[in-house]
Amino acid sequence: MKINKHYLELENSYLFKTVAKKAADYKNEHPEADIIKMGIGDVTLPLPECAVKAMGEAVSEMGKKETFHGYPESFGEDFLLSAIKSHYEKIGVKVDTDEIVATSGAKEDVANILDIFSDDVTVLIPDPVYPVYLDTNIMAGHKVIFSEANGENGFLPMPDGSKKADIIYLCSPNNPTGAAYDYDSLKKWVDFALATGAVIFYDAAYEMFITDDSPRSIFLIPGAERCAIEFCSFSKTAGFTGVRCGYTVIKKELTSDGVRLLDLWKRRQSTKFNGVSYIVSRGAAAVFSDEGEKEIRENIAYYRENTKMMTEAFSSLGFTYYGGKNSPYVWLSCPFGMKSWEFFDFLLEKCNVIATPGEGFGSCGDGYIRLSGFGTHEKTREAMERIKRVCSDYTLK
Ligand code: MLT
Repeated sequence: MKINKHYLELENSYLFKTVAKKAADYKNEHPEADIIKMGIGDVTLPLPECAVKAMGEAVSEMGKKETFHGYPESFGEDFLLSAIKSHYEKIGVKVDTDEIVATSGAKEDVANILDIFSDDVTVLIPDPVYPVYLDTNIMAGHKVIFSEANGENGFLPMPDGSKKADIIYLCSPNNPTGAAYDYDSLKKWVDFALATGAVIFYDAAYEMFITDDSPRSIFLIPGAERCAIEFCSFSKTAGFTGVRCGYTVIKKELTSDGVRLLDLWKRRQSTKFNGVSYIVSRGAAAVFSDEGEKEIRENIAYYRENTKMMTEAFSSLGFTYYGGKNSPYVWLSCPFGMKSWEFFDFLLEKCNVIATPGEGFGSCGDGYIRLSGFGTHEKTREAMERIKRVCSDYTLK
C-alpha cells in the first residue's frame, strides 16, 4: 500500500492534543494537583436558552411521523441560511442565502476547502496562527510560505510583494494573538489579492468578540467579493464547540477562469457532507434571533470579564501582553526570559495552570504563551491569584 507521506512531515501530534497529554501526564504524577485549564479555547457556559429550546422542539418534531425530517439540505436549511443572512445584514454585509453554505464547523471548512484547489498551490500563512492551516497544507503537500507576525507589526503582518501565493490565510481577530485588522489594513490585503490573483481564506471565527470598529467580515471591504472566502462558526459565538455548526460564505463574483468557486465548494460539499442536522440547524438559527443575539452578547460579556481579570493581573506584574480586547485570548510575552514551553512547564508546575505555548502556533510564537478567557470567573480568578503569587515571588529571587 502507499500512504500519504506528507503525514510524516507533521509534528507528532496536533498542538491541543500535545498540551492535553502533558496536562494528563502531570495529573497522573500529581493526583492532588488542582489543575486549571486555560489552554484550548473551549467554552464553559451552557448553550443559550433559545438554542436549547429550539433544539428541544426540533427533537420532538423528529419523534413524530408528521414532522419527522430525514436528510438535511446539503448546503443548509433555508431557515438557517436566512438567519445567517440576517446576521450579516446587521453588520452591514449583503449576502444572498445561496452564497452561504452551512457546515459542521470552521475547523473542518478551512481544511476541506483545499479540495477545490490545485495540488501545486503556494499558500501564505501568518506565523503564529491557528495550527490547522499549516497542518492541513502539509498534509496536502502544498508549498507553504509565512508572513511573520511580531510585536513590531502589532502581530498584524501586511502584504509583502516578495511573498506571492495562490492562497492567503488571514485570521482576524487573530487566534492566538487577538490582533484584529482595521479597515485600511484589510483593504491592503484585498487589493494585494486582487492584484496578484490570490484568494484570501478569511477566518472570522472570533468576529463577535470585536469591541472596536475593526471589520467583522472581509466582505465589508470592496473587492473582497472577487477574492475572498469567509469562514465562521457558532462555536465561540454561541458555545457550539460540542454541538458543531459553522458556515462558509463565497460570493458569486469569485471565479477562476470563468468557474465559480461557490459551485465547486457546493459540489464538494454535496459529495462529501450530508448537511447540518435539522436539530442543530434549529439551534443555530435561534442564536441569530433577536433573543438569541441578546443571550450570546451576555455570554461574550462574561468571557470578557475573564480577559479583563487576566490583563489586569499581567499589568500588575509588569508583563507585556497583547489581545484580550477584541478576542477571548490573551497573548502573553513569557516573563523571566523564558521560551514558550519553558514557561508552559513553569505555569503547570508552579501554578497548576495550563496554557498553550506560543511556539505551537508557529516559530514566531516562541517566547509567548496563550491563555484562554473561556473559563469560569472562579477558575480564572484563582489562576490569576496563583500566577501573581508565584511570579511576584519569582521576580524577587
Ligand atoms: C483554540 O483553542 O485555538 C480553538 O479552540 C481551537 C479550535 O477552534 O479548533
